[in-house]
Amino acid sequence: MSLDKESNAEFSYFKEWNLYHTIVKINAMFHRELYDSIRDTFPRDTAFTLCDLGCGSSDYISKILSTKKCVHYTGVDMSQSALEYSAKILNAYKNITPAYVQTDMISFLKCAVSKGQKFDMIFSGFAVHHLSSSDKETLLTLISQALNPQGRFILIDIFLPERHLKSYYFDTLMSYYYARLKDSLSQEEIDATKHHNETFDFPEYLEFYETLSQKIGFQFKVFERIEGYFSSCFQLI
Ligand SMILES: C[S@@+](CC[C@H](N)C(=O)[O-])C[C@H]1O[C@@H](n2cnc3c(N)ncnc32)[C@H](O)[C@@H]1O
Repeated sequence: MSLDKESNAEFSYFKEWNLYHTIVKINAMFHRELYDSIRDTFPRDTAFTLCDLGCGSSDYISKILSTKKCVHYTGVDMSQSALEYSAKILNAYKNITPAYVQTDMISFLKCAVSKGQKFDMIFSGFAVHHLSSSDKETLLTLISQALNPQGRFILIDIFLPERHLKSYYFDTLMSYYYARLKDSLSQEEIDATKHHNETFDFPEYLEFYETLSQKIGFQFKVFERIEGYFSSCFQLI
């Protein structure tokens, strides 16, 4: 498990959490709608275990989990500062018992699977798109092995709209996104955001996830799609 990755360029963007928090606060990535759409997929009246891959500060997921009965939460992220933020947020809730692991999500799952550790739910918000296509396939396979029977993987992420090339995503859709940031971020911050997205974002067509689900043995359902973002559920068959 490599802990020095936070010094890499990809993670230095998230090291400065104020910038990402501003983006979330003005709802530029539709956190409100996308997280609302997955609220009922988590059990309300029974205790459950949940692993959050690329949890960041756990800000939005905490709003959902705070309404549930009892959650044993494991936050996984490569960024130490993200996990420190998350601890501050989740410690405020008596019904959530948090644990944290600072590592990359694939290493975490490989380790969990080798130990026979399983979760009722696995969640990831806006983090899987940083992986290559082959790593996404490895990730979904590991997730299927790390879920209890009837377990669910809930994914919120970016995607390429059908019949459009990658250039449409980065030129057209992202230009709407940068326009939404204009009143809240400086030009320098928007440029850093643009550089981060163009270097480290690898969106897929939804068909990619559909095909992978069939191969692995997941039932795949999309809850919400908005301008290149989607929320979905992968349930073990
Ligand atoms: C855009 S933030 C998402 C935070 C939060 N989940 C949300 O929905 O707003 C992406 C997070 O994923 C983390 N991350 C990116 N790639 C990762 C990987 N391979 N393994 C673990 N964490 C990763 C980053 O450090 C960052 O905290």
